[in-house]
Amino acid sequence: CGIVGYVGHRDAYPIIIKGLQRLEYRGYDSAGVALYDGTDINLSKTKGKVQELKDKAESEISTAGSVGLGHTRWATHGVPNDVNSHPHYSNSGNLVIIHNGIIENYEPLKKELTKRGYTFQSDTDTEVLVNLIEDVKKNEGVKLGKAVQIALNQVIGAYAIAVFDKTKPDEIVVARLGSPLAIGVGEDEFFIASDASPFIEYTNNAIYLEDEEMAVVRRGKKVKVRKIKDDSLVDLYVQELQLNLEQIEKGGYDHFMLKEIFEQPNAIRDTYRGRLLVNEAIVKMAGVEDNMKKFLNAERIIVVACGTSWHAGLVSEYIFEEFARIPVEVEYASEFRYRNPIITEKDVVIAISQSGETADTMAAIKLAKSKGAFVFGVCNVVGSSISRETDAGAYTHAGPEIGVASTKAFTTQITVLTLIALRLARAKGTMSSSDYRLHLQELELIPEKVEKTLLSDDHVKEISAIYKDATNFLYLGRGFNFPVALEGALKLKEISYIHAEGYPAAEMKHGPIALIDEQMPVVVIATRKGHYEKVVSNIQEIKSRKGKIIAIVTEGDVSVKELADHVIEIPASEEALSPLLTTIPLQLLSYYIAVMRECNVDQPRNLAKSVTVE
Ligand code: G6P
Repeated sequence: CGIVGYVGHRDAYPIIIKGLQRLEYRGYDSAGVALYDGTDINLSKTKGKVQELKDKAESEISTAGSVGLGHTRWATHGVPNDVNSHPHYSNSGNLVIIHNGIIENYEPLKKELTKRGYTFQSDTDTEVLVNLIEDVKKNEGVKLGKAVQIALNQVIGAYAIAVFDKTKPDEIVVARLGSPLAIGVGEDEFFIASDASPFIEYTNNAIYLEDEEMAVVRRGKKVKVRKIKDDSLVDLYVQELQLNLEQIEKGGYDHFMLKEIFEQPNAIRDTYRGRLLVNEAIVKMAGVEDNMKKFLNAERIIVVACGTSWHAGLVSEYIFEEFARIPVEVEYASEFRYRNPIITEKDVVIAISQSGETADTMAAIKLAKSKGAFVFGVCNVVGSSISRETDAGAYTHAGPEIGVASTKAFTTQITVLTLIALRLARAKGTMSSSDYRLHLQELELIPEKVEKTLLSDDHVKEISAIYKDATNFLYLGRGFNFPVALEGALKLKEISYIHAEGYPAAEMKHGPIALIDEQMPVVVIATRKGHYEKVVSNIQEIKSRKGKIIAIVTEGDVSVKELADHVIEIPASEEALSPLLTTIPLQLLSYYIAVMRECNVDQPRNLAKSVTVE
């Protein structure tokens, strides 16, 4: 979910609506806003997108007021409907709350409050929390800040919350545990948000709350941050932000996803800039350099991640093992965290996360740290929770990724992981110096080759038009490109709602081959150096069962061209680097199919960009 709040001298409503639109990547099942007009709270909420909220709010409430809260939701407890949307009132109607996260023990709390006469309109855990705060406030005779603190100490779960009390209309109380919360500090005004994008045009100064911290944000007063547990004051750190507005707007493209696909050449350049020094034949990454001993002593690397980041981790398994000869295990963070995994001080754990906020990945990191492993983060969002929790790390520098389906984050994650593998290969002497130099040179050329690959745009669009009504897709690849097949299938599923499966090409004969008939498009990655002959035989197996073949091939290919129904060419490259190229047409294919099926590409149903709940 995304939260926004404002207290200051401007009209709160436009700031909140625009802020919510920027945070829609965090969830968009429903949205709501509460504004204080000087005497009362006006609240409007609805199932659906922020645009629907805007239409509704402007027709049903007064949008005046310079204090307000807004929320865009990704449903956890309770179906997405008007009643379950945030903000939620307390029973007296004095308090109003927005919440991102989950209160796990809400049922016993709800029972207790019901016994005391509280009633609930919604099925949400959030409404329980706001009434718990109200109950504490009443019974203990304390101010809002104190009441929030006492209530939170009774709560198990994760949250970023903002609470407003109309009897104290100059302040908003905020707190965080597990879900991100930033406070934008302006002149006599404050902004509250899940990330800095809602307030970037008003101020560059932000305070990021850490877990178990809270603050009372009061008009005209300095912010004080306290520990929720023991009320102790925390030293304030006001961070200066570097994000600019242009970076988060669409820049002429129809969708953020398309913009982000086309940004990949520059994003990859930004990722290796200053790190890949081809002339000196070195790779320089401070986070790796400073911890070289840990990496060199590592008996294995465990990669933890979710979704597309997990696929980048799988690609890195092939790369680390090939280049640096270190055994790698790639784990779904959500499985790893609950499996009592065997982790020792000799393990290096690499956590990959675009947002740096994914709850399961965060929990996996904490577990690994508690067992003494060294944890290295690969994140895109600077200052994100995971980037702060890890022992060291490297940013991908891809710039903000807004489209829910991850594209440039994936290729830049692979770029960072390749750089690390090359650096370790050099240190361990596991790669010949000629091979090492060749890979440095080739990596430097990847952005140009991605540019060339993007020229297949129109051709991919034509292919998309032919297969847009398919009900199933199969994606096949081998070696370095097996994870790319998984990622291609995931992209299609996510945004076009077509069922798709990724498979190692040779495994096809052990099951999926049964699905192949003339209705089944099969996307095969068949690049020149990657077990080419074997993949050609796999293609023949598909052909003889009348499957439709869309093949990704190396420029100048002859054999596959004769067999496949369609080919998409990519420039030749070293096989280990080819995922950075083969991924591109698969991204475009899913994009155009989704557009042709009139799906909401940037905000597919049921998904969220940043999943801060488990
Ligand atoms: C969500 C997104 C995916 C993403 C995954 C992991 O499910 O929809 O696109 O790959 O989370 O996110 P992270 O930010 O940790 O990379």
